[in-house]
Amino acid sequence: MTNIAARPLRHSEIIGLGVHRASRIVLNDEIVGPIDSSDQWIQERTGIKQRTWAPADISIIDMAVDAGNKALVHAGISAERLGTIIVSTISHPYQTPSAAVLVQDRLGARHAGAFDISAACAGFPYAVGLANGLISSGESDYVLVIGVEKLSDWTDMSDRGTAFIFADGAGAFLLGPSAVPGLGATIWGADGSEFEAIVMQPSLIELREHFKQTGELQFPKLRMQGQKVFKWAVGGMVEVCHRALEAAGLTPDDIQAFVPHQANNRITDALVRGLKFPESVVIARDIILTGNTSAASIPLALDTLLREGQVKSGDLALTVGFGAGLAYAAQVIRVP
Ligand SMILES: CC(C)(COP(=O)(O)OP(=O)(O)OC[C@H]1O[C@@H](n2cnc3c(N)ncnc32)[C@H](O)[C@@H]1OP(=O)(O)O)[C@@H](O)C(=O)NCCC(=O)NCCS
Repeated sequence: MTNIAARPLRHSEIIGLGVHRASRIVLNDEIVGPIDSSDQWIQERTGIKQRTWAPADISIIDMAVDAGNKALVHAGISAERLGTIIVSTISHPYQTPSAAVLVQDRLGARHAGAFDISAACAGFPYAVGLANGLISSGESDYVLVIGVEKLSDWTDMSDRGTAFIFADGAGAFLLGPSAVPGLGATIWGADGSEFEAIVMQPSLIELREHFKQTGELQFPKLRMQGQKVFKWAVGGMVEVCHRALEAAGLTPDDIQAFVPHQANNRITDALVRGLKFPESVVIARDIILTGNTSAASIPLALDTLLREGQVKSGDLALTVGFGAGLAYAAQVIRVP
């Protein structure tokens, strides 16, 4: 038997961060009318004071390219050196081709393979875990991971359960090879039996049938069983975070920042209580001014902490994403 050449295993690290913040600031007062709500109710239940939406002429590709370019510039790596581009999104309006190939073209990443993943609010740490695997195995030297959403397009603004939560934006990490580990192992999982807890409905096939029968054109929108998601996240993610810390050989005392998916400030509060962080650990609260941007929320929240000087390059941060699926993923990262 002739052997296939072995490639040495190696480590990976995050070497660039870039974000695109959607330009339109939407205050609670602007959206409360159709859902008979109030600024006070939304702030009490979610922490959200405002959310950022992209204007009609800005697509998820525009946002992803902007964030991706900034991550490349931050790292000082040209797009031509990219081996892979992974885009995590649930708001790309085409079934095919992927958002990632459009980003690949716009960035001029001539040598990169490109594909999307669909893991909703867990998507960013899922994609970071995949990037780590590609680099460790030698498949790619540089992998660009982008989380991007334009959820304002997919939200029913008359739905009392979702209208106030979702938002738009993009965030990117550039990962490359490293002599020492720049990431802990990814702890991930899913429970598809609960797929109805957060779902984009109706399906395109159902919409086509509805149109044939009624002539009425509808669009799929996000639906959520808020209390079920709340209980699942609060009940399960503390253990997932503990496992991610343990896999990295760390305890809550060893990290400088906790950057959970910005789902809801009350979920973050519950996780912080459960994880018993020391006072010194900085907690990301980007949801207050940005809203829930699903796959983009972790890099956007990390960017805010860096800009505010609350974390610095080299710090250790615990990240965790969770949401539709129900899917989750957590890992410790070294801040670029
Ligand atoms: C969505 C969420 C804020 C709703 O809060 P809730 O307390 O579960 O809301 P409920 O549907 O049980 O309703 C509670 C009360 O608020 C009222 N209410 C519901 N939606 C409302 C709204 N948008 N504005 C004002 N009042 C509202 C209800 O009528 C009900 O009133 P009552 O007590 O007088 O009957 C909450 O479930 C939540 O935070 N879930 C987690 C969702 C999440 O983070 N998703 C992101 C996943 S990635």
